[in-house]
Amino acid sequence: MSFLGSRFPLIQAPMAGVQLSALTIAVCKAGGLGSLPCAMLSVEAMRKELAAIRAATDRPFNVNFFVHTPPAADPRREAAWRAAFAPYYREYGIDPDSIPAGPGRAPFTAEAADVLEEVKPAVVSFHFGLPSADLVRRIRGWGCKVLASATTVDEARWLEAHGADAIIAQGVEAGGHRGNFLSDDISTQPGTFALLPQVVRAVKVPVIAAGGIADARGVAAAMALGASAVQIGTAYLLCPEATTSAVHRAALKSEAARNTTLTNVFTGRPARGIVNRVMRELGPMNAAVPAFPLGTSAITPLRTKAEAQGRGDFSPLWSGQNATGCREIPAGELTRSLAEGL
Ligand SMILES: Cc1cc2nc3c(=O)[nH]c(=O)nc-3n(C[C@H](O)[C@H](O)[C@H](O)COP(=O)(O)O)c2cc1C
Repeated sequence: MSFLGSRFPLIQAPMAGVQLSALTIAVCKAGGLGSLPCAMLSVEAMRKELAAIRAATDRPFNVNFFVHTPPAADPRREAAWRAAFAPYYREYGIDPDSIPAGPGRAPFTAEAADVLEEVKPAVVSFHFGLPSADLVRRIRGWGCKVLASATTVDEARWLEAHGADAIIAQGVEAGGHRGNFLSDDISTQPGTFALLPQVVRAVKVPVIAAGGIADARGVAAAMALGASAVQIGTAYLLCPEATTSAVHRAALKSEAARNTTLTNVFTGRPARGIVNRVMRELGPMNAAVPAFPLGTSAITPLRTKAEAQGRGDFSPLWSGQNATGCREIPAGELTRSLAEGL
């Protein structure tokens, strides 16, 4: 048994927006640590997904949260950002005044902790730092392990000093949002195989490698560099248990997947996705986007309309730099094949 409680020291990365409990359950049943991302779930939805996992398996699993500080609404900034989308709203016949402002992603709260306490998952992981010391103490008090992402050696040391039981070293290759929280300078995040050995040297707790690991040989390489476990996201995106959209699946299977970059135009924080029209025309990084996660609302109706026409021009096509591990096979089978590298 691994230090995570699962048979294999292999975590299916939590991926908000492209999975619910079905992926978690399939990975757990195969001996990996399945994850349930909660950043885009209401408390009721989270309770329902947790109950589904508990009903399907008694294996350990991970529940994941964002821990950003919600920003104050900034109507001038929001208006300026919507103005940048005006030509697209005209193109798609969208009335900009009909678009609701809304956060799109919620941080961890004491209320979410109350729901977690009912299930006491083996592992709870955080992105963008850690919640308050009280909440970290509370979760660890149930016997849960607390993990968090670090994108630099400084962040790894900070997380260890603030109670993390293990550090996820997230390299720049990784798909989705950067876990950065001490600096918003995206040039500070090294590649996985540069970051990992430095973090292993800098902290005493176990280190989990994330970013660009796509097959058993990648898993073996991370373990050779001192990782105690691996966390893999992109490779799971084509599994039937994931809820990845049709346009996202098509992009991952196409030549376009070879060209990913960091962009903030979808949410307000940098995340890695396959380059598409809105990233080319408004980004990939744009200083005018509202603070995370308020950047989400302006683009949402465009995404919906374009996707209805089979286009991913306004969709966040999150992907790491190495999509070669994406296979249309059941997540359990993928987990077992990745575990051959252990
Ligand atoms: C589609 C997608 C969504 C993601 N959502 C989350 C999330 O909700 N929480 C989180 O901690 N990490 C999230 N990540 C980042 C992963 O935890 C991890 O760092 C990354 O997948 C590892 O790199 P890889 O995609 O190259 O395997 C996401 C990644 C992807 C690809």
